[in-house]
Amino acid sequence: MAVKTAPSILSGDFSRLGEEVVRMKKAGADMIHCDVMDGMFVPNLTFGQKTIADIKKCSDIPLDVHLMIVSPERYLDKFIEAGADRLAFHVEATEYAKENLTRIKVAGIKAGIAISPDTPLEKAYSLLDYCNFVIVMGVYPGFGGQKYIPRTTERIKKLAAEISSRGLDVEIEIDGGVIGDNMKEIADAGATVMVSGNYVFGASDPKAIIEKFKEL
Ligand code: DX5
Ligand code: ZN
Repeated sequence: MAVKTAPSILSGDFSRLGEEVVRMKKAGADMIHCDVMDGMFVPNLTFGQKTIADIKKCSDIPLDVHLMIVSPERYLDKFIEAGADRLAFHVEATEYAKENLTRIKVAGIKAGIAISPDTPLEKAYSLLDYCNFVIVMGVYPGFGGQKYIPRTTERIKKLAAEISSRGLDVEIEIDGGVIGDNMKEIADAGATVMVSGNYVFGASDPKAIIEKFKEL
């Protein structure tokens, strides 16, 4: 199974984001994961659509935008215009998940939902027909460099079984706490996109790490 790598720019040097994006592309990354936080849905702030538009100009690598904001419907169009190639919002943050997914797809990009560790997986089930990918959080959203919550692996397996039993073409993306010690069990469980922040950005040789992901 081909596993894609999405380094999370949250762990990069914010004083030279463009160079960080180019560095990860050269290291073999498949896409760049961009964490947008509003200080409300999560207790942290990062960046908005202007940053996405600016880093979009630095490289042709796809941008995987993960919105951690309340009422994401307020900003979908802005992030689409800014150049997101994949756009996901949290199921906990909106009452309009189906409408949002449809709007993202109509814009011609990949539509995703993200699900936090304490949210029952069933909340994603009714949305699977509408999305291209599901981000399963391996940590509580808000910060990079946290420890992987072990029960996430079972959640990935359960979600993968649901997707396959319904014959759907929905990718599972794991986000948070992915490191060398758990990457294999996560891939075996059914995740095909690996977000990795500290593990990749903190490495002296990110290319070697990204190659390990590709071999999974
Ligand atoms: C957490 C973010 C993650 C984070 C992952 O809220 O959504 O994308 O950057 O970073 P690591 O891999 O360091 O846990
Ligand atoms: Zn993320």
